[in-house]
Amino acid sequence: MNRVAVLLTAALALSVTASAAPRTLDQIRASGTLKLGTEGAFPPFNFYQGKNLIGFEVDLGNALAREMGLKPQWVVQPFDSLLIALNQGRFDAVLASHAITPERQKAVTFLNPHYCSTVNIVAQKGGPLTRAALAGKTVGTQIGTAQIPILQAIPGIKDVRTFPNDQTILTALQAGRVDAWSSNGPVVAYMLKQTGQQGKIVIGEAISQEHNAGAVAKGNTALHDALNGALATLMKDGTYAKLSQKWFGQDIRCK
Ligand code: ARG
Repeated sequence: MNRVAVLLTAALALSVTASAAPRTLDQIRASGTLKLGTEGAFPPFNFYQGKNLIGFEVDLGNALAREMGLKPQWVVQPFDSLLIALNQGRFDAVLASHAITPERQKAVTFLNPHYCSTVNIVAQKGGPLTRAALAGKTVGTQIGTAQIPILQAIPGIKDVRTFPNDQTILTALQAGRVDAWSSNGPVVAYMLKQTGQQGKIVIGEAISQEHNAGAVAKGNTALHDALNGALATLMKDGTYAKLSQKWFGQDIRCK
């Protein structure tokens, strides 16, 4: 083999190891660290305040790790790459407000939902706030989200434009580059409050009801069971209720 071929082979071997099989519960326990994946641009669930990753899901993930006797370590990457990275073993579990959908259930193994929410249509005051009103209109939503096919199925809708994250859609909506925005209600409410847009931008009709859950790599059963066990404990011992109060002023668990 020449030098280039040797280097290429080495690089390939390395990339194969880097995207190794997901870690088993035993391997995780032996390492003492639970690696959690998230996005970091979905307030107040997972987002940055300065350079600190914070939010309800970050607090919950840290509590889950602690409950399992592990140290949490966060891996942050774009939303639409999270489930692929999960199955490649880049982190052990993902907590990024994924809705449980039949499509995603084919790819990953979901935990029990850590909350329930709606996805809503949002517009400037006087703009389209219902499915019917979206006829002939353009709506912006995040790439890789569960609401994309739901929006595309709305009769007469002109265009479903995807954006890297919700902040960029809010900016586009304010500038009139899209007629509407679609995202999870609690996220929109939080962002409108943070940016002082309440009253100017309005939250309209719900287009779906979601069970939002973390996930592990497909078939990582022992880890799935351990995380579900830890989640059940936090939901019973008051930890979950406290965190939900802190971020939402109410308990957002599925009823
Ligand atoms: N709930 C929606 C979905 O499941 C959006 C989730 C977006 N999450 C995020 N961290 N940006 O697709």
